[in-house]
Amino acid sequence: MPAKLLKGAEVAKEIRIELKAEVERLKEKYNVVPGLVTILVGENPASQSYVRAKQQTAHELGFYSIQDDQPADLSEEKLLEIIDKYNNDPKIHGILVQLPLPKHVNENKVLLAIDPSKDVDAFHPVNVGKLMIGEPDYLPCTPAGIQELLVRSGTEISGAEVVVVGRSNIVGKPIAMMLLQKAKGANATVTVVHTRTKDVKFHTKRADILIAAAGVAEYVKGDMIKPGAVVIDVGVNEVGRTADGKRILKGDVAFNEAVEIASAITPVPGGVGPMTITMLMKNTVRACKVHNNIKD
Ligand code: GUN
Repeated sequence: MPAKLLKGAEVAKEIRIELKAEVERLKEKYNVVPGLVTILVGENPASQSYVRAKQQTAHELGFYSIQDDQPADLSEEKLLEIIDKYNNDPKIHGILVQLPLPKHVNENKVLLAIDPSKDVDAFHPVNVGKLMIGEPDYLPCTPAGIQELLVRSGTEISGAEVVVVGRSNIVGKPIAMMLLQKAKGANATVTVVHTRTKDVKFHTKRADILIAAAGVAEYVKGDMIKPGAVVIDVGVNEVGRTADGKRILKGDVAFNEAVEIASAITPVPGGVGPMTITMLMKNTVRACKVHNNIKD
């Protein structure tokens, strides 16, 4: 029997309905509106498309939202000044700097400049550290979306063998950290494999939950998956364009093979991606409440 599809797009829709109601309540009861700025440096087409989707969702939920486009040759100093401006803007509760940044800009320095209480990506070292010790204020968006999908699909995480393919700061490392916490929706035994792992298949074949975040199209083949595993595909790899210029996307998992072996799998698109954006909105609502000292 083919695997069940874990449709993040549908779960994300449900959560957005809840968030929209919360935004309306905050407006009526406290006269506050969650504010999000997304800063994009340069014209990377994939980044433009992600940022557009984030802005569109913010708009749909009734946020105050700003898209701040900057040229590719923007200096690091100027970018730090822009971040400082938003750090001090009371209408803005969430600041997102889309990554990757141009080579001449030190990414770590930029992330460090964001006020941790407005860091809705949860990339600031303070938020990374809080996650590590199991006391996060904000969860990083893609890992949070993955965990939410696993929990809502009824996947048993406690005691499960989880294998993460990829060790990025955005997905691989934080999802590993989250799922191994002594907490609800966690308590897994986690292995992280990467480009220097000697025998990737040996590990992936043992996974009850396999999370592919390698950034390589169709890297995980059917014979690398344990029968009955739950497969989460984080990959968004552009493999070409249609005649009318639309991006053709493939995940990090060879879907047609995996769907015959796994018990459940996320599609690409429509799996993890919409969950990521929704978690960003959730973090922004939270940041708005923190900044306005709203406890209910
Ligand atoms: N680039 C790829 N994924 C992300 C993300 O989740 N946040 C930001 N800021 N940049 C990204």
